[in-house]
Amino acid sequence: MKISVMGSGGWGTALALVLLENGHDVTLWSYTEAESAVLKEQRENPMLKGVPLPEGLKLTSDTNCVKGCGVVVLATPSFAVRTTARTVAPLLESGAVLVSVSKGIEKDTSLTLTDAIAQEVGQDHPIVALSGPSHAEEVGRRVPTAVVSASKERSAAELVQDLFMNERFRVYASDDVVGVELGAALKNVIALCAGVCDGMGFGDNTKAALMTRGLTEIARLGVAMGGRRETFAGLTGVGDLIVTCTSMHSRNRRCGILIGKGVPTDQAVKEIGAVVEGYYAAATARALAQKAGVEMPITEAAYQVLYHGKDPRAVIVELMTRERKHELEDSWV
Ligand SMILES: NC(=O)c1ccc[n+]([C@@H]2O[C@H](COP(=O)([O-])OP(=O)(O)OC[C@H]3O[C@@H](n4cnc5c(N)ncnc54)[C@H](O)[C@@H]3O)[C@@H](O)[C@H]2O)c1
Repeated sequence: MKISVMGSGGWGTALALVLLENGHDVTLWSYTEAESAVLKEQRENPMLKGVPLPEGLKLTSDTNCVKGCGVVVLATPSFAVRTTARTVAPLLESGAVLVSVSKGIEKDTSLTLTDAIAQEVGQDHPIVALSGPSHAEEVGRRVPTAVVSASKERSAAELVQDLFMNERFRVYASDDVVGVELGAALKNVIALCAGVCDGMGFGDNTKAALMTRGLTEIARLGVAMGGRRETFAGLTGVGDLIVTCTSMHSRNRRCGILIGKGVPTDQAVKEIGAVVEGYYAAATARALAQKAGVEMPITEAAYQVLYHGKDPRAVIVELMTRERKHELEDSWV
């Protein structure tokens, strides 16, 4: 199948290579001509060092590449997903499937990325979210990886599952698009917090508490927004949380480590060099939680540290000394 991958960062490139390996006619689109020129010249992406780009992979910065494609993958940072969808919309083949592989919630509208894409491309195009515990660096090295293809339309979810599946890349299909997208976006906030705890020199106990209570509040919001609780125990929930909170590949965690060591937030975000989705997700998740009337104390704490410069140590004392709770909200009812 003819497929374009829009966004030649680490993730777009790694996924383009999976599709190429599966025998598809793949074009990798770069946002700037300069970015595309580097890829053409070096046949390697600086974000994926040591992974050659085979001659068969077409490289361009011309959005006309989506013409005639059965599938278009959107792999930009979340803030650019809507504008990229808007740019390609008039060029799309009738019925072409859009695949969102970015992780985030739209900042100004608080919409999921598939909802933002739907507003731009209209009813004629099925939309799929492809997400899960997956570092580009590892997919680039063909490390066995499992993700989820989620869509309201079963045929679209299964089409994307078939296109990407191979012996190193396993894809499960799901109909819980909201659950999959929220798990993916909100775990970045918890990963940032995990980094802050690491940067401050805390240990495994703190991280385990943060991850499990973080997942509890992510699921609380996800269910309030129509997701299924079981999805948060799956690859895009606990799976993605494990991968981002424990790895040095995670730029969210690395950014948190800098903040935990005392680097001011804006400087830490800048130092990472690529998009730190958790920084933006903290503000949007907080807004969504307030709208849904859902309690998200860790996300609130992250917001206070990231946007109001509150001292992480003080914030952790506040979290630890909140009024006592039951672990399961329906205990003894
Ligand atoms: N890197 C990973 O391991 C990984 C894994 C899963 C999901 N993701 C998600 O995929 C998305 C992209 O991640 P990445 O690591 O490839 O990011 P990146 O920062 O490496 O690259 C993103 C690409 O988008 C382009 N871009 C920047 N601004 C743009 C704009 N205004 N319009 C269009 N394109 C623009 C950049 O030029 C770059 O090619 C993020 O939402 C991320 O959370 C990343």
